[in-house]
Amino acid sequence: MSDLFELRPAVPADAPRIALWMSQPHVLRWWHQSWSVERWAQEIERQAAGDHSVPCVATADAEEIGYVELYRVRHDRLAEYYPYDENDWGVHVAIGDVTRVGRGLGRRLLRAVADAVLADEPACQRVVAEPDIENTPSVRAFLAAGFDRHGELQLPEKTALLMVRTRTVEE
Ligand SMILES: CC(C)(COP(=O)(O)OP(=O)(O)OC[C@H]1O[C@@H](n2cnc3c(N)ncnc32)[C@H](O)[C@@H]1OP(=O)(O)O)[C@@H](O)C(=O)NCCC(=O)NCCS
Repeated sequence: MSDLFELRPAVPADAPRIALWMSQPHVLRWWHQSWSVERWAQEIERQAAGDHSVPCVATADAEEIGYVELYRVRHDRLAEYYPYDENDWGVHVAIGDVTRVGRGLGRRLLRAVADAVLADEPACQRVVAEPDIENTPSVRAFLAAGFDRHGELQLPEKTALLMVRTRTVEE
């Protein structure tokens, strides 16, 4: 199955949709960011104004399917938990519609996102993620997308699995 995935930077006008996605139980359980539309609009503006992260809306075949947050590990708390490289990027993901999860869409999206980050950022050698070790669908989707397990991290609110997609020789 092929999809044409695109990521575009989120804008405050996306806040209603993102807030709806974040309120879905399958997302809320892992993200804990079921915020109001107003708070999401502020959050998007806050991130857009800084260097830490880039909030994005993901589309598959032109349909908006979820929220992706790309972040520079060197500006993130994750930098305290593993020997990061200056150019590592991290990814957080949420597919908003529960009827679309568990069908292989996430792994294809994550593969496309990692490929795009590595293509856009020549100095970046690794794209990383830190799913909760109990979030089996997420861990399996990252594995299927070409990320490898790099050990457990004890974060303040969860035990996470550090997952790493490393640039290949061909890339
Ligand atoms: C994480 C997420 C992006 C993955 O996308 P997806 O489309 O569900 O992923 P895929 O269908 O590609 O893969 C899911 C895998 O988990 C498995 N899975 C799904 N539900 C499961 C469950 N309850 N128990 C065990 N395995 C499960 C599927 O079988 C599949 O693995 P397999 O094909 O190797 O057997 C999506 O589920 C999501 O947005 N979840 C809510 C938010 C979230 O958890 N974000 C991640 C935070 S790090």
